[in-house]
Amino acid sequence: MSTVALNLETDDVVLPAPALPERATLEATLRQRKSTRDVRADALPLATLSALLWAAFGINRSGSGGRTAPSAHNWQETTVYAVLPEGSYRYDAPSHRLCLVKAQDLRHLTGTQPFVGSAPLNLVYVADFARMPDVAPHEREFLAGVASGCIAQNVYLACAAFGLGTVLRGLVDRRALAHALGLPPTQRITLAQSVGVPLS
Ligand SMILES: Cc1cc2nc3c(=O)[nH]c(=O)nc-3n(C[C@H](O)[C@H](O)[C@H](O)COP(=O)(O)O)c2cc1C
Repeated sequence: MSTVALNLETDDVVLPAPALPERATLEATLRQRKSTRDVRADALPLATLSALLWAAFGINRSGSGGRTAPSAHNWQETTVYAVLPEGSYRYDAPSHRLCLVKAQDLRHLTGTQPFVGSAPLNLVYVADFARMPDVAPHEREFLAGVASGCIAQNVYLACAAFGLGTVLRGLVDRRALAHALGLPPTQRITLAQSVGVPLS
């Protein structure tokens, strides 16, 4: 299976159709879900990246555009970024592709803990407050945080199914990372999540 080697000549990376391990039961993945911080630096296969992004917040209902994770009012305010050694990409769920944001290794900026700089994949969850109308600012933060948590649990379970290690992270210098990703002020980083093959 090919590891993630992205062609930086093109800004978009069309992902293969997502496929999760067929034999993983819900009970087994729930039993195996845990946080893992010690992961190998080895790149993940593109097929795995595809499945993880789809599990995170992909389209699971054609027609309605429904997602694998819920959101208040179905705002779908969260965008998943994949921060890889090759660069940082925005996951476009409708087209199931990665769109290049920065052709630089920004992994070390996705958190304040040392392991994030060498984890092969750091997901960053970004809420667009402009897509959450008619609610007070503190409600937006609360609801966006919960929505990111739902996405994160999908990733936890998908990682358990693949035998991958992952940890959700709130320890993020959001200002520095938002600046590096070029996010406008309405787009707020909620959480980040590292993924990789466990060391042991
Ligand atoms: C909202 C949230 C934020 C978290 N932030 C961090 C973090 O910044 N760094 C970290 O190493 N773990 C973080 N964790 C992981 C927790 O430490 C972990 O889930 C907890 O210790 C329980 O371990 P378990 O996930 O293996 O059951 C976070 C978990 C949640 C739900």
